[in-house]
Amino acid sequence: MTLSTSHLLSISHLTLDDVVLVLKTAQHFKRQTRITPSLKDKTVINCFFENSTRTRISFERAAQQLGAHVITFNESCSSASKGESIRDTILNLRAMGPAAFVIRHAHAGIPQLIAETVPDCPIINAGDGAHAHPTQALLDALTIQEAKGSLKGLHVGIIGDIAHSRVARSNMRLLKMLGAHVTVCGPKTLMPVGIADFGVKVSRNFKQLLPTLDVIMMLRIQLERAAGSAIPSLADYSLSFGLTDTLLQHAKTDAIIMHPGPINRGVELSASVADGLQSVILKQVENGIYVRMAVLDLLWGGRS
Ligand code: NCD
Repeated sequence: MTLSTSHLLSISHLTLDDVVLVLKTAQHFKRQTRITPSLKDKTVINCFFENSTRTRISFERAAQQLGAHVITFNESCSSASKGESIRDTILNLRAMGPAAFVIRHAHAGIPQLIAETVPDCPIINAGDGAHAHPTQALLDALTIQEAKGSLKGLHVGIIGDIAHSRVARSNMRLLKMLGAHVTVCGPKTLMPVGIADFGVKVSRNFKQLLPTLDVIMMLRIQLERAAGSAIPSLADYSLSFGLTDTLLQHAKTDAIIMHPGPINRGVELSASVADGLQSVILKQVENGIYVRMAVLDLLWGGRS
């Protein structure tokens, strides 16, 4: 079983059959106690040109679970700090024979550029600028599927800094592919231009939207991508778009609360909501390992 693509650059490169296969394979890995080490003695190089906790470590875990050796490239200790280009960096790392590269970068399009540079080596996008974060959307889909059985017909709200969020972009595409209805909600200044092209509804009123949601996906304000200048203050933002215990009383009692992390407690979520019974945030983290195992396994399997 393989994917129809040799790299995972964005959700739009996947067919519905690909998505179903990734989710099934991830579930299989989750249930399995003994795993066939399909990447035994292979090497996966994780290139994180932008900081990460969950995504980087879960890609490391995923590759290790499949028997691979993992090398994490650290930009600040590399010759990139002497001015070596990304293209040269990747060509040199490629000469060392890795089975796959996992790439995170603050600029949109870098994983695509790398895939064009080394087309014969699977490239997995672990987040590029505000463009795409496909494995996050896949692990979110797996988590929703586990909680709700199916995504078909569910109403999913994505709340917060939509403009700067690669998580929102990948989720909008994937959730719609899987038959969910999506409404994005946030300040007008944090809505991307052309949001209507994604085929989602747009709301500015979180309090009105909340009771209709089956899945409440909260996003972080991306201060590192200048989101701070788009809102009067974090306190003001939180009053309109933060989820607190009081507000949660208006949500469906079986609605699930998601967040890709890292959470700004007290801004988009109160601490008690983040840690509360409706939160599936740590299940998302756990499912990240299985989804990334599935992606590595299927891309490598497709190649060999
Ligand atoms: C997200 C990211 O980096 O895009 N986090 C993640 O990968 N788990 C979201 C964020 O940083 O807010």
